[in-house]
Amino acid sequence: MVNIHLQLAIGGFKFRKADTQMDYTIRSCDYEDMPHVVSMLNRSGSKSVDLEVFRRQIAHDDQAGPTTYYVVVDGTESVVGFGRCFPDQLASKSGYFNLRITSSTHERHRGIGTLLYRQLDAWLTQNHAIHVNTNIRDNDDASLSFATNRGFQVAHHAFESRLDLSAWQPESFSATLEQVNRRGVRLANLRELGGTTDENMQNFYVLEMKLLEDEPVSSGGTLPEFGVWKQEILEQRGLFEPEGMWFALHDEVWVASASLYGRPDNTVYNGGTVVDRAYRGQSIAFALKIASLRWAKSAGFTYAVTNNEATNTSIIALNQRLGYQPSPGFYMLEKWL
Ligand SMILES: CC(C)(COP(=O)(O)OP(=O)(O)OC[C@H]1O[C@@H](n2cnc3c(N)ncnc32)[C@H](O)[C@@H]1OP(=O)(O)O)[C@@H](O)C(=O)NCCC(=O)NCCS
Repeated sequence: MVNIHLQLAIGGFKFRKADTQMDYTIRSCDYEDMPHVVSMLNRSGSKSVDLEVFRRQIAHDDQAGPTTYYVVVDGTESVVGFGRCFPDQLASKSGYFNLRITSSTHERHRGIGTLLYRQLDAWLTQNHAIHVNTNIRDNDDASLSFATNRGFQVAHHAFESRLDLSAWQPESFSATLEQVNRRGVRLANLRELGGTTDENMQNFYVLEMKLLEDEPVSSGGTLPEFGVWKQEILEQRGLFEPEGMWFALHDEVWVASASLYGRPDNTVYNGGTVVDRAYRGQSIAFALKIASLRWAKSAGFTYAVTNNEATNTSIIALNQRLGYQPSPGFYMLEKWL
C-alpha cells in the first residue's frame, strides 16, 4: 500500500505519494484547463465527453447558482482529477447541489478523490448546502464504496439501455402507429406543431409537470416558473431540437410527450416520456417512442440511449419491446448535510 502525507502548500493542498515522490496539487479549475479535463474524463469514463458540450454545460450550471470547480494535477502539471459542485436544478431549492468527482483511471486509490472531496465538502458547508446528489456506475464497486464511506446513501438505481438505430426496423411497428391513429390520436413533433411558440411550450410545460409527479426519480421535484423553464430547456446544453420533441394530441389536447436530445457523439438521449393519466394503457407511449425513434434514425443518429429507474418496470418492459438492450446503469446517491 502506498503511504501518503497531506501537506499544506501555497495556493492549495498537496498530497505526496511516497513511492514515486510525485506531488498532487489541487487548485481551482481555469478555462484553459478544460481541454485537459475533458481528455482526462474521456480516458477515465464510459461515456465520451465533447469539449464544446462540456463548456456549454458548465456555463449553463454557472447561471443556475453557486458552482465550484477544482482540478488535481500531478508533478508534470497533467490533470489527474476533476471535481465540481453545481446547483441541483431538478430540486429548484437553495441548498440542493450535485457533486461530481472523477480521478484518472490509472491513478485511483492514491488520494486524488479524497483531495477533491475534502475541498468540495468544505465549499458545500460554506454555501449552506442541505442536500447533495451524486451518480455512480452500478458496476463500479470502488466508487460506490468511496461515496458510501463519505456518508452518501443510494436513493435510486437507474438502468441504462441502448438501441442500435442502424439495425432497428421501424416498419415492424407500423401496426401500433395505425392503431393509435385510428383512435384519433395524432403524433407530431414540435416543429410540425409550429415550433417553440409560448402556447406550444406551455402545453409541453404542463406535460413535464405531469412527468415530475409520476416518474420515480424526479417525484417530488418541481419545475421553475414557465419563463425560466422555457429558457432552460431551449438552452438544454445546446441539445434541444424541436424535431426531437414528440407529442400525442387527442382532440387537439396535448396528452403525452417523449423527448429525444441529440448528442455530439451521434446518439439521442431519451429525456422523458409521459402520458396523461387519463390516456394511459392505450399504447400512446409506445407509439410516441416509435415515432420519435423513427425520426432519430432518419436524421442519421446511430444509437438511442435511455435511463430508467430499476423499479419503473413498465417503461423498462416497453423499451425492451422496442429493442433496447440493457447496459450498466448507475446509482443515484444522496447525502443530507
Ligand atoms: C470515486 C473516485 C473519484 C475515487 O477516486 P480515487 O482517486 O480512487 O479516491 P482516493 O484514492 O482518494 O480514495 C479511494 C480509497 O482509496 C484510499 N486511499 C487513498 N490513498 C491511498 C493510498 N495511497 N493507498 C491506499 N489507499 C488509498 C482512500 O482512503 C479511499 O478509501 P476509503 O473510502 O476507505 O477512505 C474514482 O473512483 C472515480 O473517478 N470514479 C468514477 C466517477 C465516480 O463514480 N465518481 C463518484 C463520486 S461523484
